[in-house]
Amino acid sequence: MHRLLGRRIIFVGGKGGVGKTTTAGALALLAADGGRETLLVSTDPAHSLGDVFDRRVGNRETALSPHLTGLEIDPEGEAERHIDTVKASMKSLVAPKMYDAVDRQLELARHSPGTMEAALLERMADVMTDATRRFDVLIFDTAPSGHTIRLLSLPDVMAAWSDGMLGYRDRSRKLGTLLTMLGRDQAADDEFGILGGATDTPNASRDSRIHDILLARRRKFHRARALLTDASITAFLLVINAERLPILESKKTLDLLRTFDVPVAGMIVNRLLPANAEGAFLQERRLQENQYRDEIDRTFSDLPRVYLELLPHDVHGIATLREISEALATQLHLLGAR
Ligand SMILES: Nc1ncnc2c1ncn2[C@@H]1O[C@H](COP(=O)(O)OP(=O)(O)OP(=O)(O)O)[C@@H](O)[C@H]1O
Ligand SMILES: [Mg+2]
Repeated sequence: MHRLLGRRIIFVGGKGGVGKTTTAGALALLAADGGRETLLVSTDPAHSLGDVFDRRVGNRETALSPHLTGLEIDPEGEAERHIDTVKASMKSLVAPKMYDAVDRQLELARHSPGTMEAALLERMADVMTDATRRFDVLIFDTAPSGHTIRLLSLPDVMAAWSDGMLGYRDRSRKLGTLLTMLGRDQAADDEFGILGGATDTPNASRDSRIHDILLARRRKFHRARALLTDASITAFLLVINAERLPILESKKTLDLLRTFDVPVAGMIVNRLLPANAEGAFLQERRLQENQYRDEIDRTFSDLPRVYLELLPHDVHGIATLREISEALATQLHLLGAR
């Protein structure tokens, strides 16, 4: 088996439009064709898996091919669900007359910066821990840039963000910060029935329930980070085109990944002009492409690289995806070495 496909988790990243979904799909097919149970997960709001595999996928595991399952995580949908869950947790902790305040506060949170990222990452962390038990390989087709990875690499930041939603800023077992978030001062507590006996649950048990929720989330992000930085489990692949902007962006992404100790297994240089393409126009394009290829080889000399040609047609449906898989298969032994 190829070293790369021996990893449990593979992330495919890169600038917009370079071929992340295409190569992630091709790689997933290779793994599945080799008999490994494979889950291909897209975290891109554009829902591109369905497009490439010519099948409706969406937010539930969907069979794409023998041994291959697809899943599209929608960041907006995740944010909605996240807010609803927090709403339900908060309502179980305050008196019914506070419900309106809870609703208002969380409607604001719905649109606050970071909500979508946090919800998406929480789901990714769930998938990483849950799906690795049921699948041999998990392949993530990530949204453009290293943003997702950066956030997953900061479990404490993510946990703090999530904690903030429950108004629980420190790890103490006090409910006080919940009040701060709801804009009530401590003196008014009893009037609003939060700390008093307005609900049936005693304070201590309420506090411990909040504590449990927050602790579970913290553990989840830490577990995800541990998986993400373990080179025997995770491999990150950067997809790039021989053009100026993808080179610039990939440099930054690579620095970021290395800063956070994410193991980068190699680079896929995609959409190269085919060797046999002819004509004056293509000759000129090729001259430019060769310069950028040289630049890629120099800049990323310490990364294993594989090269894929531009097909004469779009990649749409499993048959065309297999053309990419086949080209990838002949070079895959180059990737994944440490
Ligand atoms: N080697 C190739 N030959 C021909 N077409 C390709 C190749 N690689 C990708 N494409 C086409 O280029 C377009 C972009 O590819 P893809 O959707 O995989 O990129 P992406 O990085 O996932 O984009 P986004 O950032 O929008 O998610 C698609 O139409 C795809 O069919
Ligand atoms: Mg895509």
